[in-house]
Amino acid sequence: MLKTTLIKAAEKAGGILKQYYGSAFQISNKEGVNNLVTEADHAAEKAIMEIIRNDFPDHYILSEESGDMPTDSEYKWIIDPLDGTVNFAHGLPLCCVSIGLERDGEMIMGAVFNPFFNEFYFAQKGYGATLNNQIIQVSQEMQVDKACLVTGFPYTYLDEPNGPLEVFSRLIRRGIPVRRLGSAAMDLCWVAAGRFEGFYEHKLNAWDSAAGFLMVQEAGGKVTDFSGAPYSPYQPQIVATNGKIHAGLLQWIAGTQ
Ligand code: IPD
Ligand code: CA
Ligand code: CA
Repeated sequence: MLKTTLIKAAEKAGGILKQYYGSAFQISNKEGVNNLVTEADHAAEKAIMEIIRNDFPDHYILSEESGDMPTDSEYKWIIDPLDGTVNFAHGLPLCCVSIGLERDGEMIMGAVFNPFFNEFYFAQKGYGATLNNQIIQVSQEMQVDKACLVTGFPYTYLDEPNGPLEVFSRLIRRGIPVRRLGSAAMDLCWVAAGRFEGFYEHKLNAWDSAAGFLMVQEAGGKVTDFSGAPYSPYQPQIVATNGKIHAGLLQWIAGTQ
């Protein structure tokens, strides 16, 4: 039932994003410059919450645009109705719906759906990760020097020592390709699918990574913070890799390579 609800909600929201895509929808700005929210974010979020509340009225929901809606339930749904809003607002189809489900503080299921590429990613704790029902695995590359990486830049913080621009510059100067695609949930799924060897970002929110980090772990990868400690979606930093380049990438991020 949990899985059915999760899939139903992600599919419904993906359909809504498709309906709005390319049409004249309303866009407004949140905190920072170009931190956008559109009518599509709100419509997709409403549909997801209706489906969850219909099936599980007492469950806890944390959703990007509506905030924290705590209950006593052991289950908590963590929702990003549209990850990659800037892309979406510019007619770039690199964006998705992301929904994670925690039980007693542990991520147990996640779905990420990009309706434009028709890619539906699903992971369940202990049961692996799939793309359109086919099992996916992280890549086998062993060296950071041979890796293709992906990262993202937050809306409001860039120029700290070892901040997003400094780490990016260090890797690029070494000739290591680092892409910046604009959707953390897609970035994580593409590490899980073996397309990228690794993803790192300095400042994410729980809804950006909740489903995607489980995807990487269930596809055989490793996810930590910048110190190498086990990942929690409730702190900002993330490093998600195929596991093999993990220690090496942590050194590149710290500047101790
Ligand atoms: C953003 C995307 C982006 C990341 C930002 C996020 P949004 O989410 O995931 O890749 O770099 O930090 O805020 O605003 O499009 O849902
Ligand atoms: Ca997001
Ligand atoms: Ca969002």
